[in-house]
Amino acid sequence: MPDPKLHPTTSFEAHPDDVRRVLLLYSGGLDTSVMLKWIRDEYEAEVVALTVNVGQPGEDYEAIRAKAHQLGALECHVVDAREEFVREYVLPAIKANAVYGPGYPLFTALSRPLIAKLAVQHARETGCDTIAHGCTGKGNDQVRIEATIATLAPELKVIAPVRSWRMGREEELEYARTHGIPLKGGSEVSPYSIDDNLWGRSSEGRWIEDLDHAPEDDVFQLVTRPEEAPDEADIVEIGFERGVPVSLNGARLGAVHLIERIGSFGARHGIGIVDQIEDRIVGLKVRDIYEVPAATILLTAHRELEALVGTIHQHQLKPALDQKWAYLVYAGLWWEPLRTDLDAYMEAANSQVTGTVGVKLYKGSARVVTRSSPNAVYDSQLATFSESGGLFSQDASPGFIELFSLQSRMAWRVRNREDR
Ligand code: ARG
Repeated sequence: MPDPKLHPTTSFEAHPDDVRRVLLLYSGGLDTSVMLKWIRDEYEAEVVALTVNVGQPGEDYEAIRAKAHQLGALECHVVDAREEFVREYVLPAIKANAVYGPGYPLFTALSRPLIAKLAVQHARETGCDTIAHGCTGKGNDQVRIEATIATLAPELKVIAPVRSWRMGREEELEYARTHGIPLKGGSEVSPYSIDDNLWGRSSEGRWIEDLDHAPEDDVFQLVTRPEEAPDEADIVEIGFERGVPVSLNGARLGAVHLIERIGSFGARHGIGIVDQIEDRIVGLKVRDIYEVPAATILLTAHRELEALVGTIHQHQLKPALDQKWAYLVYAGLWWEPLRTDLDAYMEAANSQVTGTVGVKLYKGSARVVTRSSPNAVYDSQLATFSESGGLFSQDASPGFIELFSLQSRMAWRVRNREDR
């Protein structure tokens, strides 16, 4: 048996003797609150807490900071990373029409490399030797966070207490009670497992694990259920420049603000409820419920504008590259060079994606109703049924049909020969 002290299984797993100061990715919830105290006790280590704001709605960051202090953190850092999240992660996702599975716009997956990158930065600045996070051993988030740390900071170690401490929810609550860790809200019913930011919200756990259990109303905390949505439709007009959304109903807005505004329009109209079965990167198949109003509207509008300005050949290739981009991001391979290679293509393809799209929002549906672009590969004179002339000659069409169908016609004849 090799000595695990000399031969750790992975390059980044922390040996307890070497852990002196830990940067903890702290959310203020039960897991990471118990963890803050637990790391101080079990590792006899100092803890620096880091909370990253990527636009989680309704979060009280000052309360989180105060709680981390109360639990004995050496320092508590709160970083507003919304601008960077949108600029470096969400906008590239829009250019790549990024969706995994039928309807997951990757909001969690996009946030993890940024959160882990900030953890590395703050760990280095505060002299930490180890980073701790609250991910379980069954999810994708551990992959995304640890792959980022191991890539950017091979000198830093990682601890993932939820993976190893073998406390269930009841034991964690008991630990919290005996160690005076404040609990918010009731603790009788176990809550959904939630993750959210300005690009969407996910719920897992409880009855969601019963695949034949239709969604209960209380899971929807962001989007109005379509049956409760207003009887009057709204049309939102979104302006894009080179694939980036820049205006809403004629008013120019910064991207963070614009996404938040579009999200609240969508939420009001019941847009972006997704109930999907998903193949996790660690092999599990799970069900997720997503509420993604801003992403649904913006991706719909962006795809429409691409359809207007690109050619048939571009449209045949790009979805395959979009899907590859989404898979890399889902799988936690943000720092993989293929992703940046693909981004170069996305930039080129989006260079023409400028214009305006009107989307009608009504009881859960987001339907494109208007589109315009100075770069449209469209000429209403050519497209109209009645006229002929200019670039398009209807007289040329029969010749086109003759040659275009030639191989297919010959093959059909061979396969249907009488003498066979
Ligand atoms: N299924 C999604 C993903 O893998 C959402 C995960 C949500 N994360 C969480 N810690 N609750 O990206």
